[in-house]
Amino acid sequence: MTVRVAVLISGSGTNLQALIDTAASSDCPAEIVLVLSNKEGAYGLSRARTAGIDAVWHDHRGKPRATYDQEVADILRRNRVDWVFLAGFMRLLSPVLLEAFPGRVVNIHPALLPSFPGLQAQKQAFDAGVRVSGATVHFVDAGMDTGAIIAQGTVCRQDDDTLDDFSARILAMEHRLFPMVMRWAAEGRLALRGGEAVVSLATGESRSLLDS
Ligand code: GRF
Repeated sequence: MTVRVAVLISGSGTNLQALIDTAASSDCPAEIVLVLSNKEGAYGLSRARTAGIDAVWHDHRGKPRATYDQEVADILRRNRVDWVFLAGFMRLLSPVLLEAFPGRVVNIHPALLPSFPGLQAQKQAFDAGVRVSGATVHFVDAGMDTGAIIAQGTVCRQDDDTLDDFSARILAMEHRLFPMVMRWAAEGRLALRGGEAVVSLATGESRSLLDS
């Protein structure tokens, strides 16, 4: 039996692509059944259609947050979605959407939370001069990147890194981390219990990935 995943995006969708590629492998019980974007021209919509996945643009403009989120929740329910993965979806979620999928909404963030939440996290870290940053996958709550941490991957800053170099390596880490968590979710090994992310790890697995 496959687990039905929806991916919400706003942009290019390279993380979406990593999820699509993983779901396509025969040993992964996840099926991406829907990609939804709040931005009309999001390239991720094309990625989804190329992969034969239903892709919808649902415009948020002019709607109160709760109204929009109710509409999105209705679309997800109609598609019998089990898990919701936010892959560069540039919106905070209101309780109406979170309560429709309790403990089933996951986000990826390009820094080691709780450091550098919010926008341009790679630049925030770079400007702060940190030597190590990375990516975090976490359950979503109503805050800004504040939900329970599921997994993290570290990326070291090299001495000659530009911000673009640093950001590219963080993105590459995201592409390893997010599919790993999707597998856990699809295999029934991930849960939110008492505000904490619980993962049943297999032998040799870790909730931390290191670069190189
Ligand atoms: C990623 O860095 C993700 O962590 C952040 O938005 C970016 C989306 O990139 N939330 P992409 O659309 O997956 O290429």
